Amino acid sequence: MDPNSSGISQRLAEAGQSHLLQFWDVLSPDEKAELTLDLQGMDFKEINGFFKSAMKMSSNSKDEKMDARMEPVPRDVLGSVTRDRDSLREWEAAGLLCISQNKVAALLLAGGQGTRLGVSYPKGMYDVGLPSHKTLFQIQAERILKLQELAEKKHKTKCSIPWYIMTSGRTMESTKEFFSHHNYFGLDQKNVVFFQQGMLPAMDYNGKIILENKGKLSMAPDGNGGLYRALGGQGILEDMQQRGIECIHVYCVDNILVKVADPSFIGFCVQKRAYCGAKVVEKTNPTEAVGVVCKVDGHYQVVEYSEITLATAEKRSSDGRLMFNAGNVANHFFSFSFLKDIVEKYEPKLQHHVAQKKIPYVNEKGQMIKPDKPNGIKMEKFVFDIFQFANKFVVYEVLREDEFSPLKNADSQDGKDTPTTARHALMSLHHRWVLNAGGHFIDENGRRVPAIPSLKDGTDLPIKCEISPLVSYGGEVRASEMLMRLKDPTLMIDESGVHELVKNGV
Ligand code: UTP
Repeated sequence: MDPNSSGISQRLAEAGQSHLLQFWDVLSPDEKAELTLDLQGMDFKEINGFFKSAMKMSSNSKDEKMDARMEPVPRDVLGSVTRDRDSLREWEAAGLLCISQNKVAALLLAGGQGTRLGVSYPKGMYDVGLPSHKTLFQIQAERILKLQELAEKKHKTKCSIPWYIMTSGRTMESTKEFFSHHNYFGLDQKNVVFFQQGMLPAMDYNGKIILENKGKLSMAPDGNGGLYRALGGQGILEDMQQRGIECIHVYCVDNILVKVADPSFIGFCVQKRAYCGAKVVEKTNPTEAVGVVCKVDGHYQVVEYSEITLATAEKRSSDGRLMFNAGNVANHFFSFSFLKDIVEKYEPKLQHHVAQKKIPYVNEKGQMIKPDKPNGIKMEKFVFDIFQFANKFVVYEVLREDEFSPLKNADSQDGKDTPTTARHALMSLHHRWVLNAGGHFIDENGRRVPAIPSLKDGTDLPIKCEISPLVSYGGEVRASEMLMRLKDPTLMIDESGVHELVKNGV
């Protein structure tokens, strides 16, 4: 189709984006058709507007530190698995009740590109090398299955936790295929709902859309905060409403320890009548580059490490903890009515953040260039941008070693957040479950392995121990059951029983 007669040329000229057609004459008919389709679906005025406001917000925030406007999370909105042990059972019971009444949904953010991990397929399909070789998707699916079973047993009624999975243009097809190939990991297909977040073009610093090659725009997902627009645009809110969902647990695909639809977290939020809740882990090192949940000018938000001075990051409370220690792990609770308000009223008020990136492009001569320093921006909204709109906001503090180990980077020596660190985190958690249940491990010579390995034996590797989520959701298996399964000291505990002898070393 000719871009002049279709009106595309004119729309591009009006938006200052005519360069997108500079290679039109050398494109094949197929490439022309594809480019036309892409351009037809875009609102260039809106995109230019996003660019302007994102750049403005980014330059304002560069000059300004937040310190003077920040207040830590007050104790009365804080629940903590260590400081409020007495309430944990009650919160868990409240959460399980909601689950048994079919009021709870899980919502997975899986639209990222996983560039740092560097695989060409969606991150949820990654196998971190556990004895079972389960992928992140499978582990999460099985946690949902187990939780449904726990709620059903307790309340003697059938129930389900619908699982909404946000993908992007780049991950949708392969994610769906993977689930279908694995028979939805035992979940009922009608309770697994895929939807797709939006994409935005990458721009250079002058607001020109970048061409990835002669006939293709450089596109990227619009951030995990693209969730809110996608929820409205793709009928997901209506689906939740029809199912009678009242509580939504939103989390990231890359955290191998994630307690999907965590009943204690949900119960805590429900008892507090919260619209929105954030699960956090304690930030213990002042220079750790993690965002902290706090109040700014009276409203909750996440403040990034780069937005505060070192002096503020180092401030301590009277109990010796960092004053701003509520480390955000992108793990949230929403009431359905709050989510609806966000989608219908507040989403358009959210501005995009700017991420400077090295973006491969084609230059005016038609040469493909891979820049070695950032040459443009991607625009992203963040899932936590909406905290500010919650009139009733709560924070739930959990132990990092029990609940947070994200997979971000490929393996490298001493790497952070890698397949190895994720695998070790899961196995060491399961090791602790066994010990807590009264079990112990023996080595290949039949000697009892000490619960806390001594440094002398020269290994800091965790015991190779994996317990299937179908056996235990959160270490809740009774000691007698666990011990029965442990008659043979074990490596892997799954639905079919116990396998292999445990040995140190992975
Ligand atoms: P990250 O910001 O860590 O991005 O996402 P990523 O895509 O996993 O990895 P990099 O930065 O490209 O290496 C945190 C969570 O938010 C989701 C991701 O899938 C992950 O669960 N996410 C991120 C989205 O759902 N959409 C996005 O546009 C970006």
